[in-house]
Amino acid sequence: MTRHDESARSRNDAVLAEHRAIREILRRMRTATARDDLGARLAEFCTAARDHFDGEEAEGGFYDSVLAQAPRHQAVIDALRDEHGSLLRDAERLRLEVSAAAETDLARLCAVAGGLADRLEEHEATENEILLEVMNQDLGAGD
Ligand SMILES: [Fe+2]
Repeated sequence: MTRHDESARSRNDAVLAEHRAIREILRRMRTATARDDLGARLAEFCTAARDHFDGEEAEGGFYDSVLAQAPRHQAVIDALRDEHGSLLRDAERLRLEVSAAAETDLARLCAVAGGLADRLEEHEATENEILLEVMNQDLGAGD
């Protein structure tokens, strides 16, 4: 295995590990039992998602490496990048809404947070699919 392969593999492993960590944050967000709790979990989500998205979009990061190997994914990667922006905007808006809301609004706010979690899970599932496809392609090339 070349050094390039090793660094690609450790980056791919890191992406998958971050996806698992984010799923855990989403699980906690879905099960908040009080407004303060939901606010804290949303804040945690915003920070983790921003860091994770920045890493994926960074020069030489996950998206660049996918495109270097499989330029046919350009349109999907462009859509995923756009989605990063809209997910972060919506999460931040919801976090502010939660901090100003009444405790009695909890059920509605949790439903909105659940919808956001669904969107992020779908987003990450698309990324995982692309990642696995590119990794398999790599193995198939058998150098
Ligand atoms: Fe991701």
